[in-house]
Amino acid sequence: MEKDRGSWSGQLGFVISAAASAVGLGNLWRFPANAATYGGGIFLLTYLLLFFGFGVFMLITEISIGRATRLSPIEAFRKLNRRWVFVGWLGTVIPFLIMPYYGVIGGWCIKYFAEYLFVGSAPDFGAVTGNAAESVFMMAVFAFLTFVFVWFGVEKGVERSNKVMLPALLFLVLGVAAFVLCQPESRPGLKFYFVPDFSRLCADGSFSPMLLGKMILAALGQMFFSLSIAMGIMITYGSYVPEATHMPKSAFHIGFCDTVVAFLAGLIIIPPVFAFGGEELARSAGPGLMFVSLPQVFAQMPCSRMVALAFFLLVLFAALTSNISLCETCVASLCDRTGLKRRTGTLLVAVYTVTAGLPSAISLGFLDKADYLTNNVLMPVCAFSTCIFIGWIAGPDFVRYEATKHGRHRMFAFGYYRILIKYLAPVMFAAIFISLI
Ligand code: PHE
Repeated sequence: MEKDRGSWSGQLGFVISAAASAVGLGNLWRFPANAATYGGGIFLLTYLLLFFGFGVFMLITEISIGRATRLSPIEAFRKLNRRWVFVGWLGTVIPFLIMPYYGVIGGWCIKYFAEYLFVGSAPDFGAVTGNAAESVFMMAVFAFLTFVFVWFGVEKGVERSNKVMLPALLFLVLGVAAFVLCQPESRPGLKFYFVPDFSRLCADGSFSPMLLGKMILAALGQMFFSLSIAMGIMITYGSYVPEATHMPKSAFHIGFCDTVVAFLAGLIIIPPVFAFGGEELARSAGPGLMFVSLPQVFAQMPCSRMVALAFFLLVLFAALTSNISLCETCVASLCDRTGLKRRTGTLLVAVYTVTAGLPSAISLGFLDKADYLTNNVLMPVCAFSTCIFIGWIAGPDFVRYEATKHGRHRMFAFGYYRILIKYLAPVMFAAIFISLI
């Protein structure tokens, strides 16, 4: 049974695949907008601190649950403690809910890339979303690309595709960022992105602890979405990690790669958007930014078609590799639970995704509701329950033994981890939940 589940070829294969999952639309259309909203450099610094003090440890926690059980979330929690199997269910329901609407967005990415390639300019976003038949078709193409890779298995499909797409994405991000930096108009935007703007933490002319708290929660929420935490993915990917892998180090590399891409995405997006539309536009996020404002901004730049092509190709890679991780989690959960073969599971999940994606492809309102439910309700609850389970039921030592393979590898700051997982993290996730609701 364990053999059938597959495994990464080694530490590098795992790090690349997990990083490819983490680098997604969140890095591109949420991180820069958050930085612009919360005072540029202040947000960047806060994010970095939270990454070292929180993100890495959450990654280690989820990967440990996966590797210790060699199972996807539901069966993993059942194995650890039958009463807590609901956490596994949460972690499984989330990707099943996200995948159908993520596929619709993936379809738009294909549409934009194709339009720049063949026509030379961006399509009208209203017309794209208004054309249900085409949205469904593009979603199906995106789903097909995803399922082909998952069909071929963990190492031969998922890992291999990530080993091509992630480096290509990094190359494109660096290229576009360098191009943007060379434009003289980028200066003011760069300042806006990097220089701390303390006035964003002030209300009525004096410092506001409320605004500071809001900024910290925004950074935390951004981070746990960006690291693919609380969606079953890191548990599933962890279940394929070879015994010899140095897990604390790998977790650090995964998060580091994710953070670097987020910072570079800000370099690509903020300067031109700031020059074109000022502060307000730089603070916008989501599909409006990506599919409406950015194409308008690109049109004003030199070599606009090339820049847009490179940009939408990297967006497509980011979306596809994240979608592959969602799909892998769904397929693994289904197969672990029912004993089905991977290929049968993949086909079933494919049929489900395309069918369940229809309402989102047809109506934007439905897509927004699904997004709200997963990001603002289910994910914080899942993250909170995971921390309580590890902190108080399984015990922090469970993670220490697994992450270090009983002392073979070093885990930094374990004393701190104990406090984090028992007290700090649950409080923070509860605060995120309350602030989002
Ligand atoms: N880390 C991903 C991102 O930043 C989160 C994600 C993964 C979302 C998989 C959906 C699917 O976009």
